[in-house]
Amino acid sequence: MSDREPDPIGRPFGQGIRTPDDGDALRLPDPVASAEDVADEPSLRPRSLDEFVGQQHVRDQLRIAVDAARQRGEGLDHVLLAGPPGLGKTSLARIIAEELGARFVPTAGPSLERKADVAALLTALEPGSVFFIDELHRLPRALEETLYPAMEDRQLPVTIGQGVGARVVTLDLPPFTLIGATTRAGLLSRPLRDRFGLQQRLEPYGQDDLVAIVRRSASLLEMTIDEQGAGLVALRARGTPRVANRLLRRVRDYVEVHGGGAVTGPVAAEALDLLGVDALGLDRLDREILRAICTMFAGGPVGLSTLSAAVGEEADTIEDVYEPYLLQQGLVQRTPRGRVVTPRAFEHLGIPRPEA
Ligand SMILES: Nc1ncnc2c1ncn2[C@@H]1O[C@H](COP(=O)(O)OP(=O)(O)OP(=O)(O)O)[C@@H](O)[C@H]1O
Ligand SMILES: [Mg+2]
Repeated sequence: MSDREPDPIGRPFGQGIRTPDDGDALRLPDPVASAEDVADEPSLRPRSLDEFVGQQHVRDQLRIAVDAARQRGEGLDHVLLAGPPGLGKTSLARIIAEELGARFVPTAGPSLERKADVAALLTALEPGSVFFIDELHRLPRALEETLYPAMEDRQLPVTIGQGVGARVVTLDLPPFTLIGATTRAGLLSRPLRDRFGLQQRLEPYGQDDLVAIVRRSASLLEMTIDEQGAGLVALRARGTPRVANRLLRRVRDYVEVHGGGAVTGPVAAEALDLLGVDALGLDRLDREILRAICTMFAGGPVGLSTLSAAVGEEADTIEDVYEPYLLQQGLVQRTPRGRVVTPRAFEHLGIPRPEA
């Protein structure tokens, strides 16, 4: 993309400086996903706050807010859920609706194009519904403004007619809770963000929580997995439940092909090695990117487009899918002159560092 070229650290035009807080750290490659995984995902979703593993702080706050709203017989304040992909935002939104006993009406930022789309959805809501907008940062700006009065006063101004005959009428909306999910909270406008009474940020999961998630999913998938096996899958899951579930399914395939039985540590290790997922959770392309910077560019700095040509992968994919995890793991850094690898990358690949 030509608008990237002048920017040595490859920021897409108009997106501002990305900080880890933007929430795009840990965007996950899905080298091991299959259609079956996608179809399976709902079956592994936690259905209640109690089933939802980890994120204690978020759960506690939501529990209080949901219980209070129920006791008062009022709607729940609007909720913003931010954080990297696959950490449970959509699951939580569904859980909130479930716990409220409310209808769940899902939509996504990119699929709402016109004011009329939003108006049609909002006016058709059953009172008390949870209206879920996924990828909220991709909602067109003009539509954000439609949401302001809807969120604040449950009012929706609509223009009827055109030209001199046009007039604005204000529709009253039923009470509803808007839940917005975003991987890039930093891209939301301030006024939109401020209209969410509850704002929660999900963080990558620690090992213990991931082990609990792997065990829970294994039991739902009717697999037997021992402590060591679960630990290994969890370790390579990049702090992300969705990745943990995917790796687990691939391990299940491997075990089935090899005659079935329990997933032990050694079996899980063999399966994951075969998938090319290493001890840090890096896959083949992650390592190729690191190797290219280490060997072809002497550790960097190297620009995104050059790197893209070197590894034969699109710049966008490198930037959105692979790089965030490498940054988060402290293997790569962005500098004004391009990407550089850290000593840890050389160590991880077992490549000697070039003389300074
Ligand atoms: N806390 C959790 N406990 C158990 N399983 C979880 C948890 N969080 C996520 N999962 C599992 O991970 C899968 C992905 O979660 P979910 O779809 O809610 O993530 P997301 O944050 O909405 O991702 P995206 O940003 O890509 O939309 C779920 O289907 C569920 O199986
Ligand atoms: Mg989601």
